[in-house]
Amino acid sequence: METSTGITISRRGAVLAIGFDRPQKKNALTAAMYSAMAHALGEAGADDSVRVVLFHGSPDVFTAGNDLEDFMERPPGAEDAPVFRFLLAVARFDKPLVAAVNGPAVGLGTTLLLHCDLVYVADNARFSMPFTQLGLVPEFGSSYLLPLVAGRQCAAELLLLGEPFDAQKALAAGFVTRVLPPSGTLEAAWSAAEKLARLPVNSVRITRALLRGAHHEAIERQMREESAHFRRMLGEPAAREAIAAFFARRKPDFSGL
Ligand code: COA
Repeated sequence: METSTGITISRRGAVLAIGFDRPQKKNALTAAMYSAMAHALGEAGADDSVRVVLFHGSPDVFTAGNDLEDFMERPPGAEDAPVFRFLLAVARFDKPLVAAVNGPAVGLGTTLLLHCDLVYVADNARFSMPFTQLGLVPEFGSSYLLPLVAGRQCAAELLLLGEPFDAQKALAAGFVTRVLPPSGTLEAAWSAAEKLARLPVNSVRITRALLRGAHHEAIERQMREESAHFRRMLGEPAAREAIAAFFARRKPDFSGL
């Protein structure tokens, strides 16, 4: 297993796993981690010996989403920012993506799952997309993909209120394959990934492309639109207040904002 800035890369046969590995910060994702993951996906995409990519976190946390401190210090300025390069690398990846989720999966930790084909989650998983609570807007095409899988009302509840929800609600929302005991989640994901990797490569690749159908271009368009709002709003008073409140461990005060 190689370790690079906050991520681990490991292999089992034709399955390559990308692990979030910054447990002291709940695996919050920095620009360096996005760069490393975009690079790993680029290499995996070009390497015929890799047939499936698996995302996982630590035994007690998937990821706390964007590192809010890193985001304020190094705000993603344009579409060549590491975070956007990672988002595009995922959205354009043409091999199956599998995920294993234990514990909290915040922000991108949840929206990443909307791009995955098989998602195994522990019954202690806790999801949230707290973008409005942070004075921001959804990212990673979630404002397109979530209504598609969950229906408009469910997506509206999850994205407008931004409150945490459990594994059963995620299953009902349609972006989870199976809910398992925490100790069995990662192994179930590895085993499903290995099963996929043993199937004829072109059948899997084309089936996946057919399943995604005509949504591909619309997803990228939405990601760009979301990202333009997100980048602008990161510098505005509501996001500044929300992020300051998070680090001060207090409730944000949005009066007048
Ligand atoms: N960015 C930066 N630091 C983060 C972080 C994030 N997204 N999430 C957690 N951390 C840091 C905390 O500041 C804390 O650091 P410290 O020990 O130096 O004080 C450490 O990680 C542990 O976090 P803590 O909140 O104490 O853990 P918890 O178990 O009580 O809660 C979470 C875990 C994931 C539920 C909670 O940390 C959380 O909600 N994080 C913010 C998620 C968020 O808003 N993400 C952005 C989405 S766009």
